[in-house]
Amino acid sequence: MERTFLMVKPDGVQRGLIGEIVSRFENKGFQLVGAKMVAVTKELAETHYGEHKERPFFHDLVQFITSGPVFAMVWEGDNVIAEARKMMGATNPNDALPGTVRGDFGVHLSKNIIHGSDAAESAAKEITLWFREEELVSYTKTI
Ligand code: CMP
Repeated sequence: MERTFLMVKPDGVQRGLIGEIVSRFENKGFQLVGAKMVAVTKELAETHYGEHKERPFFHDLVQFITSGPVFAMVWEGDNVIAEARKMMGATNPNDALPGTVRGDFGVHLSKNIIHGSDAAESAAKEITLWFREEELVSYTKTI
């Protein structure tokens, strides 16, 4: 069973979108197996976004993600990495289709509400970076 890391960014938290976003993924049929509010440190932000270190927007990105709490999650399900990316919409909310999280709620490239792992390798890395093993559960539906 595949797992992915998703995070409601500070703008999404402050706009009260946690419930809406969790609902969308629950309604789709994915299982939430880990979740927590996190006050992101500079170190965690720099590690998480390490691949963008040389990009001109790196400093602003780290500043933004540490500007307020985020809601970090691990979701499980068939093909959840790619499906979650579809449900999030394009990185730039102006390119994201209606019906996607960013298309419905976002307007800024830098404040785009949600982050999701882009591949199996980054999902594994990000889950390990953000969660300890004992913070994750595994369960089978019994109802
Ligand atoms: P995310 O999916 O969290 O991964 C990297 C983030 O960098 C991305 O979402 C955007 O929020 C941000 N980003 C990407 N390109 C730019 C850009 N050109 N200017 C500012 N922020 C960007």
